[in-house]
Amino acid sequence: MSKLNFWNSTWPLDEAQCPCDLHFLDYLQSRNAQSSTIFHFGTGNHHIVGLRLAQSDSNCAVLGITASPQEYEDYVRLLIDNPQLGRSYKAWFGDIYQLDARLLPMFDYITLFHVGEFRTAENDRYGALTDLEMTLLLADQVKPGGEILFYTGSYAYDIAERVEAELLRQRPFERRGTFKSLQILGRSDF
Ligand SMILES: C[S@@+](CC[C@H](N)C(=O)[O-])C[C@H]1O[C@@H](n2cnc3c(N)ncnc32)[C@H](O)[C@@H]1O
Repeated sequence: MSKLNFWNSTWPLDEAQCPCDLHFLDYLQSRNAQSSTIFHFGTGNHHIVGLRLAQSDSNCAVLGITASPQEYEDYVRLLIDNPQLGRSYKAWFGDIYQLDARLLPMFDYITLFHVGEFRTAENDRYGALTDLEMTLLLADQVKPGGEILFYTGSYAYDIAERVEAELLRQRPFERRGTFKSLQILGRSDF
């Protein structure tokens, strides 16, 4: 029997090594994002995206996914100690390569900072989506004018770049430039 390709590790906030979540928060602030709906791939154990937005007056709602049982436990603890957080920040444990569009709303922003970093043959054993399939599924959940953000500092950015090229070919998206370490692709058919 194959097992879920979960992440048996945990990731603290480390701006020097991996600033993507902080750059995303800066980006939202630069755009004065208000009442935005956000899908976030890879919460980290810090849960900084959901946490900071819940503490701000932006009224943004965040759905985050982690494949780390330890990071999920940290979310449970955070939520128990800060019940207000649960209104706007939902995190769940699972494999992003098992997303089901029937269970997803439409989003203003989708972060795909870790495309290519964790998808292996292990996921194939249980028929999981590929990086491209997962990205296209989420692209169809982007509101008109909304955006998908990639992380140019990822060690797997070569894979992400290939996925970006296919996304541009197969869906109505356009390049909207970069912000700090982030590459921004926006839905263009509106
Ligand atoms: C290196 S950490 C980065 C966390 C955070 N984005 C940051 O930069 O600080 C990678 C994150 O991706 C998540 N992850 C890894 N594989 C995943 C998968 N198959 N589905 C969902 N999340 C996954 C991990 O649980 C972890 O939160």
